[in-house]
Amino acid sequence: MNIILLGPPGAGKGTQARMLVEDRGMIQLSTGDMLRDAKASGTEMGKRVADVMARGELVTDEIVIGLIEERLEAEANRGFIFDGFPRTLAQADALDALLAKHGKSLNAVIEMRVDDEALVARITARSTCGNCGEVYNDQSKPWPEDGKCAVCGSTDQTRRADDNEDALRTRLMAYYKQTSPLIGYYYAKGKLRPVDGMGTPDAVRHELDIQLG
Ligand code: AP5
Repeated sequence: MNIILLGPPGAGKGTQARMLVEDRGMIQLSTGDMLRDAKASGTEMGKRVADVMARGELVTDEIVIGLIEERLEAEANRGFIFDGFPRTLAQADALDALLAKHGKSLNAVIEMRVDDEALVARITARSTCGNCGEVYNDQSKPWPEDGKCAVCGSTDQTRRADDNEDALRTRLMAYYKQTSPLIGYYYAKGKLRPVDGMGTPDAVRHELDIQLG
């Protein structure tokens, strides 16, 4: 099964993708994580995208399509969760072509619906384990009191450079201008499955489970 998690920043795409990996053994392909890894390891491409990401703008289609292409080639025999990709119509077309090249197709596009005020609250309270990527939230899932990640025991609690109000405004704008047209596009293709993202993470997980069958 190959699915897209589509939704604004803070909708819970990463949180649900990690649960799907656990529940269904699928592979999570997050272009945001791939770009942050490139930045952290200091590659040429990582240096080029760092400022664009910090401002909350989208990086070029060419770069993200290249990243997805590499991963599809490397792990062609598994089901994929596309987390944060595609974000433009050009990326959606490229994904169709790449999947077809590997004899695959898209099963469903999960549209995660969350109110804007909740997005701001979630993003400004987020932290992540710098070692294993587990996602925390100061309100709904606080970093453990003993200072160690509950999954891997690391003490590396990190906050993203783009999780501030200015960058978030730009990210939301990019979502509504460049990414939200994909909702109509996938609806017309009969692939869209809306999910209420306002419930608890476990409630959303349950709804997703029903949608995916
Ligand atoms: P990316 O990393 O994809 O960020 P994003 O889309 O802004 O999404 P987030 O990771 O912020 O949110 P999420 O939906 O995963 O929420 P999460 O589960 O963490 O992209 C970053 C940047 O990279 C972009 O701005 C762009 O520059 C570039 N980029 C990436 N892909 C690109 C592409 N394809 N094209 C061009 N540029 C690209 O949850 C958020 C918080 O809420 C957490 O604290 C979590 O614990 C909490 N939470 C989650 N679910 C719930 C719930 N149900 N109830 C309460 N709290 C919850």
